[in-house]
Amino acid sequence: MSQDVILGIESSCDDTAAAVVDRDGNVLSSIIASQTHIHSRWGGVYPEFASRAHALTVVPTIERALEEANVKGPDLKAIGVTRGPGLIGSLIVGVNTAAGLGLGWNVPVIGINHLRGHLRSADLVERRVELPAIVLLVSGGHTFLARMESLTSIQLLGSTRDDSVGEAYDKVARLLGLGFPGGPAVDKMAKTGKPSIPFPRPMLNEGFEFSFSGLKSSVGRFLDKNPDVDHADVAASFVSACMEIMITKCKRALEAYPAECLVVVGGVAASPQLREGTTELCERMGVKLCLPPLKWSTDNAAMIGLAAWDYLNAGVTPPLSATASLPITEF
Ligand code: KG4
Ligand code: ZN
Repeated sequence: MSQDVILGIESSCDDTAAAVVDRDGNVLSSIIASQTHIHSRWGGVYPEFASRAHALTVVPTIERALEEANVKGPDLKAIGVTRGPGLIGSLIVGVNTAAGLGLGWNVPVIGINHLRGHLRSADLVERRVELPAIVLLVSGGHTFLARMESLTSIQLLGSTRDDSVGEAYDKVARLLGLGFPGGPAVDKMAKTGKPSIPFPRPMLNEGFEFSFSGLKSSVGRFLDKNPDVDHADVAASFVSACMEIMITKCKRALEAYPAECLVVVGGVAASPQLREGTTELCERMGVKLCLPPLKWSTDNAAMIGLAAWDYLNAGVTPPLSATASLPITEF
């Protein structure tokens, strides 16, 4: 018997994920098969190994998600699968699997923009987001500020000109010998240090665009010149520069546009420093802060399932094709 639930499938980078979500954003199951153990020895994601690992784990991950939610494939309302942006080989595994299952089960398959999935992660379990909203998306692949007027109307304010903030965290983690993925390790080390090194804050005073490559390089140069420096101070100073940049840009956007809330999503939204910084900012500005539950800040399929509900409700059916680069303004 048909049930009011969607199966989300995510395979854009190094996590194979499947989840079952109802139309209110309740998560009946969420399974994530991480590939960290495969990529850690290279200090970053190795695309060919990522797609091979997705091919091995995608079906068992989906089976577990359906089993935990107690749902049979043919009873799904729809399948939502990430179609981009991301690593093309990894995306193809998810999209082709979803297309095959949809055909076999006679269930519609909707291709989802991964970035729109992150945006919706703030509404999982508990509906928090009020519109219009300013959105800061900070992940390993992307960094941008946007305005969200409705669930399907999104306007980009500014994105990074070079590295994403998550990429900068990962590169600094490598420089500090902290391994992969670097974000949580840099955060942890930063807590024990002093933010005493004046690293640059690129583009701090310019609009809504970001740039993180100069900051990352200056951490590298500083470490070369000061091999005996306390690494915790370097981590704390780097995190403090990242925070000042992100908080300043959010404040600028909240001052420039009417907004009921600030939505902060993407892997870096797991950072306690960013959670604290945006909490303080929103308190000062009298704006509601909408953060995803911690476990759904990084890549997952529950957010893809919830975004699929938006697409379904709005009758949006983008082409079901894997697309390596896909801007937030597209579906
Ligand atoms: O959203 P995500 O899981 O994948 C992409 O879509 O890119 O984001 C991954 C990024 C990585 O760069 C990782 O280092 C960063 O999010 N990240 C963090 C934290 N947890 C993950 N950065 C800072 N603090 C964290 N606690
Ligand atoms: Zn992501």
